[in-house]
This record gives sequence, C-alpha cells and structure tokens, in this order.
Amino acid sequence: MSITPPRKLFVTTALPYANAGFHIGHIMEYIQADIWVRFQRMQGNEVHFVCADDAHGAPIMIAAEKAGVTPQEFVAGIAAGRKHPLDGFHIGFDNWHSTDGQENHALSKEIYRRLRDDAKLITTKTIEQFFDPVKNMFLADRYIKGECPKCGAKDQYGDSCEVCGAVYAPTELKNPYSALSGATPVMKSSEHYFFKLSDPKCVAFLRQWALADNRLQPEVANKAREWLEGDNGLVDWDISRDAPYFGIEIPDAPGKYFYVWLDAPIGYLASLKNYFDKTGRDYDAFMADPSTEQYHFIGKDIIYFHTLFWPAMLHFAGLKVPNNIYVHGFITVSGEKMSKSRGTGISPLRYLEIGMNPEWLRYYIAAKLSAKVEDVDFNPEDFMARVNSDLIGKYVNIASRSAGFITKKFGGKVVSDWATATDPFLATLRDAAPEILALYDQREFGKALRAIMEQADRVNAYVDANKPWELAKNPAKDATLQEVCSRLLEAFRILTIYLKPVLPALAAQVESLLNLQPLQWSDIGTPLPHGHRINAYAHLMTRVDTNMLDALFEAPAAADDEAPPVISADDGKTAVEELEAEIKIEDFAKIDLRIAKIVNCEQVEGSDKLLRLTLDVGEGRLRNVFSGIKSAYQPQDLIGKLTVMVANLAPRKMKFGISEGMVLAASAADEKTNPGIYILNPWPGATPGMRVR
Ligand code: MSP
Ligand code: ZN
Repeated sequence: MSITPPRKLFVTTALPYANAGFHIGHIMEYIQADIWVRFQRMQGNEVHFVCADDAHGAPIMIAAEKAGVTPQEFVAGIAAGRKHPLDGFHIGFDNWHSTDGQENHALSKEIYRRLRDDAKLITTKTIEQFFDPVKNMFLADRYIKGECPKCGAKDQYGDSCEVCGAVYAPTELKNPYSALSGATPVMKSSEHYFFKLSDPKCVAFLRQWALADNRLQPEVANKAREWLEGDNGLVDWDISRDAPYFGIEIPDAPGKYFYVWLDAPIGYLASLKNYFDKTGRDYDAFMADPSTEQYHFIGKDIIYFHTLFWPAMLHFAGLKVPNNIYVHGFITVSGEKMSKSRGTGISPLRYLEIGMNPEWLRYYIAAKLSAKVEDVDFNPEDFMARVNSDLIGKYVNIASRSAGFITKKFGGKVVSDWATATDPFLATLRDAAPEILALYDQREFGKALRAIMEQADRVNAYVDANKPWELAKNPAKDATLQEVCSRLLEAFRILTIYLKPVLPALAAQVESLLNLQPLQWSDIGTPLPHGHRINAYAHLMTRVDTNMLDALFEAPAAADDEAPPVISADDGKTAVEELEAEIKIEDFAKIDLRIAKIVNCEQVEGSDKLLRLTLDVGEGRLRNVFSGIKSAYQPQDLIGKLTVMVANLAPRKMKFGISEGMVLAASAADEKTNPGIYILNPWPGATPGMRVR
C-alpha cells in the first residue's frame, strides 16, 4: 500500500443500532477511526468519513410499538440525540445518515437485483419457523423462550441454555412461548430468499479477498480461514423476513423484507451518496475510480458480516470491494465487560455533562489502542495518571515553561537566527516523524504516542537542563532565555503536529497561541520564522481530578443495584415484557417519584375501572388522583396506606375531574396469566413527600 499523498479514502465506522444512544464502546470506535481519518487528512489525503443509524429490524420495530410511535418516529428520536456527543468528542464525520433513507432503499434494491439477475446468486426456499399467533408474526430465535431440552431449565432463549450451556434450535425447546405475547408459538412455513454464499464462485472469490490477498489483521484472517476452510463450509444466507418488519421491501416479493443485515452495510454507501449528492460531488465517479480506497472500522463481534457477506455482495453486484476491514476489540471498564442492562459505568453523555475534557478520553483510548483485535480497558486511576503525566506533565509543560517569557519579555517574538532548521536538538525531534507517521497509518496509536512521549521527555530534559525560570532572573541572560524558549516553542510546535490527530481541539488552541495556520504534517520541516510573533499564553489543559472521576462513576441510583428481573417460573409461561429502550440517569431523574399517603379513597360514580384517591405528598395541600385499580382494591383497604406516585406528571383532565399525578402499580404483560394489579408500598419508615430515587 502506498502512503504517498494524495490518497482518496472512503472511511466508515459500524452503523449503530438506532435503538439507544451511544455507549462508550461506540465512542471508542469513533475515536479510533477519527484519529486515523484526521491523520490521513493531515497528510493531504482526501478523506470522506461517514456513518449512519442502523434503523431497521425487529427489535427497533418492537421498541417503537412499545413507545407508541411509528418506527420512523422512533429512529428519528434516536437520530436527534447523535450530534451532541459526536461534536462533544470531536468526531469529525462528514455525514450522518440513516439506513431508512431513500438512498439506501434504492441502493439495496439495485444491489439485490444485480445479485439476482446478473450473478444469479439469489434462491428461495420454504422454511418452517415459529410464528406468534397473537402478534401475527414470525419469531426470531431471541423472541422464543422455553425449557431447555437438555436440563429442563425454564425460560431459556431459543438458541442456547444459560444454565447448562446446551446449544439447540428453537424448535427443540420444551413448552416454547413467545417472549412478546406469552402465546404458544405454532410452526408455520414461509418462502425465504437466500444469498448463495455456498456457491463455488462465492467461496473462490472470498478465499482470494479474505485470505490470499493478505489484507486482514492476522486474528481476523484466522477467523475467516475457519469459516472459509472449515468442515461446514459456507452456508447460504437467509436475507428475507416476513411482514410485519421494519425494513426495505424486496423487489418482486410482496410482504418480504430484506433482513436488516443485508441493507445495513449498504447504508455505508447510502450515507456517502447522500453526502455527495448534498455537496455536489459525483458519487458514481468516486466509487468507480479504482484508486478510491474503502475502509470500514468495526468491532470484533461483526467480523462475519464484514469479511464474508459484505465483500461478496459488493463483488457480485459489480461494485468496489473494501480494501480492508479494520477490527478493534471491546472496551471494558476496570476489567469488566459492558453489560446491556448495567451499562459500563461510563456514559459518554455523563462524561461530557460533568465537564470532563473529551481529549483526555481520546488520548487515553489512543494510548491503549493497537492494530490488534485486543480489548481495551478503561481504568480510572490509570486514566488519571496517564493523562496527567503525559498531557499535562510532559506536553503542556513545555509551553507553560516557555511561552510566557516570550510574550512578557520579548514582545511575543521568537528567534531562530541560530538555524532552527539544522539545530541538532530539533532535528532529532523531526527525525521521529517517519516512524510516527507509519505507526499512525498502521493504527498503532499506542506505539505512536509512546514515540511522541519519548520525544517530549527529551524536550523536558532540555527544559530541566536550561531552566528558563532561572535565566529569567538574570537580565544579562536575556538572549539565552529568548533562544531557549524559542527552541522550546518550536519543539512544542512539532509535538503538536504529532499529537494533532488525537487532540484536534488542543492543537487548535496551540495554533492560535503560536499564531499559525492549521498545522499539516508537512509543516514539521517549516520552523517558526525568525521574529515570528506569538499570542499571549492562555491555560491549555487542566488536570483530571478525582472528584470528576467519582462523579463519572457515581452509581446510576436505583437501577444499578437491581437484580435482573426474576421470572416467576411456576408454569414456565409467564411472559416478562421486553425492556424499554435504555435511558440515561438524567432521563430517570426527570421523573419525580414521591411517597404519598392515601388519606382518602372512594369509588368513582359511573366508572368501572377507577378509584379516586386523595393523596398527601407533604406539600401542605392534598392531591386528587384517579387510578385504574378498582378491580384489585376496596377503597377502605387503601385509606391510611403509603404508596408511590409520579408527582410531576402534568395534570390531566379526565371525564370525572382532574388527576394530579399517577400512582404506580405493577401488572403482568399478559393479563390472562395474572390479571392482578399491585400498587407499591414502601418499607416502614418512609414518610409522605420523600423522593424515590
Ligand atoms: N448495527 C450493527 C452494525 C451494522 S454495520 C453495517 C451493530 N450495531 S451496534 O450498535 O451493536 O455496534 C456498533 C459498533 O459498536 C460495532 O462495531 C460494535 O462492535 C461496536 N461495539 C459494541 N460494543 C462495544 C464495546 N464494548 N467496545 C467497543 N466496541 C463495541 O453491530
Ligand atoms: Zn440447559
């Protein structure tokens, strides 16, 4: 691969599912790709860096239904929350689009038609699958539960048993039930569309692309080898789903939709096309140009899709195939895996909200990243130590020791009449450039930063040896002071270029301090000119402090200590509702829950559902609340009891009067298995008005 500019690069990160906001794993991936992209741009390469929401699929459709909105509205809500964290962490995507955009509908259909008509790689097969007769839909494995065929454990998922580890087909479960409705699923057959990955020409192409061409990271190539050369060979890929499905309709196949993983990667192209169309560029020409290079940054869990399906789809549709897939490991926090329900302890939004510097995280993650598929651990102490020692102690220190003297004593003017360009101290610093360049290009960011910090160490040794603060005490040493500080600022300028892909905002501050145009890699060899005037030194970066880290890791209140929902297993059929889309602690904090005393309770004339409650939430007034709990409670049984209410719900006018809040009650997803309604009652000691948090 040539690294002679200008290269033309098309770079993406994986498209996050549009069912929740970003987690720290997403941000890590974006930081990795963004650093690489910024580095490439600094070389003068042309880079187009795009992403999009992965909008389709059953889980998003179901989440939207729960939220009482259309899938389109649901994903629009998620999309609205993307810009703030992306800007916050200085992720410089050129475009953010959606796989439900018109470009993706068109491109997916076009690619499918080519695969079907030109490559003859589409086939159909009738398959039998579980069907939920209540929801009227086919059930993906994850929506089927039942008893493990091996050990009999109840409420196991359709693919494997969490108790004994057995792996099986959903049809092998005993007493299966739909996790969506609780209903017993029935077997139903339907015609599915398949991409013939097992076709010899596909296998031959993939062996060449994934193995022979030697492009993939060794760990990724090993995976691909297992799949391509293993005993089972490649199996055809089921690319259709039956309605109802939130997705793209398959041409000439009414009621059939593309499986989300077919149109998701096409979303890379769709986002690029959307961006090119918006900015008056020629998408077709760019993608047809053989010199355009295409790279996808992804995590280790989605290698199969990106090294087999995706290149095969592109190749047999007559399109450009990726030059490479850059795979990273997962981020763990203090050695622990991220979990869907507990989160990671680091919420990207919280990080930004409490005012932590995004470049601390960029630097820390970069320092831990390599080109290997290794997990990266975020360790709070290590984070603080690394950032404070490298960024503040080594890098910023150089400017804070020198810039002030130049502005205060020398009118901001630097000198370089001692031949900055050939100065051996600075030459060594510049000589590190090719190594650092190669490391960045190879995504060896940890090694690149180590090489940069070695140079910073040398510069700090120079600071210590020359002690500008001592020189400043002696007016006879002014010339030396100006020279030493000028040399330090030139060194600082070079280090800033090296660090700029990782620390773009800090680099911009330095450019303004040094009174320079945005620095490019090629500026390494152009020293600050003699007599160049810099601006007054302003503080560049603060240290990480422990209070911030404590605030970052503050337990997300109630939710965190909650045990996972226990499924009452008496008949093995109690359906537990799917969880709502994840919310942030800030979202929860908006709901003001209070302990309320039921001071009076009575029947409501003319209503067969409601009771009228008079509640005391310690406000010095009483509230009137209607609650649909008549079927479960006698009014006199509730009077005098404590319960929990939503106290900041907007008052609602109902047929029988105004309701000023809502009392919380539990009920089963499926009324047939348990029709009960259970209001909440705090443990002894709670008093009216206390907040529930
Ligand atoms: N929607 C698919 C990708 C479609 S690409 C055509 C998807 N979405 S995801 O939201 O689950 O993941 C998005 C990216 O985040 C993936 O590359 C995934 O590997 C990455 N990560 C998810 N959890 C992660 C960590 N804990 N750490 C680092 N990256 C992680 O998969
Ligand atoms: Zn089992």
